[in-house]
Amino acid sequence: MKKLVVLSGAGISAESGIPTFRDAGGLWEGYRVEDVATPDAWRKDRALVLDFYNERRKKALSVEPNRGHEILAELESRFDVTIVTQNVDNLHERAGSSHVIHLHGSLFESRSTVDENLVYPIKGWELKLGDKCEKGSQLRPNIVWFGEMVPKMEEAAAYAQDADIFIVVGTSMVVYPAAGLIEYVRREVPKFIVDPGSPEFRDARDIVFIREKASTGLEKVREELHKFLG
Ligand code: OAD
Repeated sequence: MKKLVVLSGAGISAESGIPTFRDAGGLWEGYRVEDVATPDAWRKDRALVLDFYNERRKKALSVEPNRGHEILAELESRFDVTIVTQNVDNLHERAGSSHVIHLHGSLFESRSTVDENLVYPIKGWELKLGDKCEKGSQLRPNIVWFGEMVPKMEEAAAYAQDADIFIVVGTSMVVYPAAGLIEYVRREVPKFIVDPGSPEFRDARDIVFIREKASTGLEKVREELHKFLG
């Protein structure tokens, strides 16, 4: 089967009711990144950071995957699909996608603050002050914050290099290294971008731009993909 790699961002979960970060009314309009999504924020005010992610988790638990997530899951019957997502929700998995790389971590995992290899599932919505790892340190959300390394980038880049088809959906392409993933994709590989806005692209050559929401835009991509079967 042909290898199809998808880079997704907040926009794919927008139709499920999760606000994006940078659109009008987006999450970063209500919060300062440096107050809630950096190692410094964690040092200054753990309760505030835990609260911020508890709210995100609560929201993610209250919504359902949308048609966009479902279409990507359905493509597994015809392609070898890898989804590289910047999203920390689990809507790709809940829609049925079986191979999802979470570049920025997951809302549904906590990790030790003394040993980053100690990762635990979070059941329910709440991670509290006083919740500790087996070595006795406070647990933090297993989210990649601004200023931190992106440990899964190497793995994601290897999939991008190997892709036969590449789809970008719902990301403003301003946060690196994730936004640089497309640069690993071979030149001759068909590339589709689904986004109703105007994501930043350095090199728009040979890219099919579908300026629509994920649900309808991915339906069009799916039709286009018939050409690449067999
Ligand atoms: P952004 O909020 O920066 O961009 C969302 C993109 O989704 C924009 O290009 C919108 O035009 C598009 N969009 C909006 N509604 C859509 C819809 N219904 N269907 C498809 N696209 C739609 O979100 P990201 O690019 O994901 O990082 O942000 C990247 C990273 O910045 C996030 O992972 C997060 C954030 O700060 C961390 O927290 C580490």
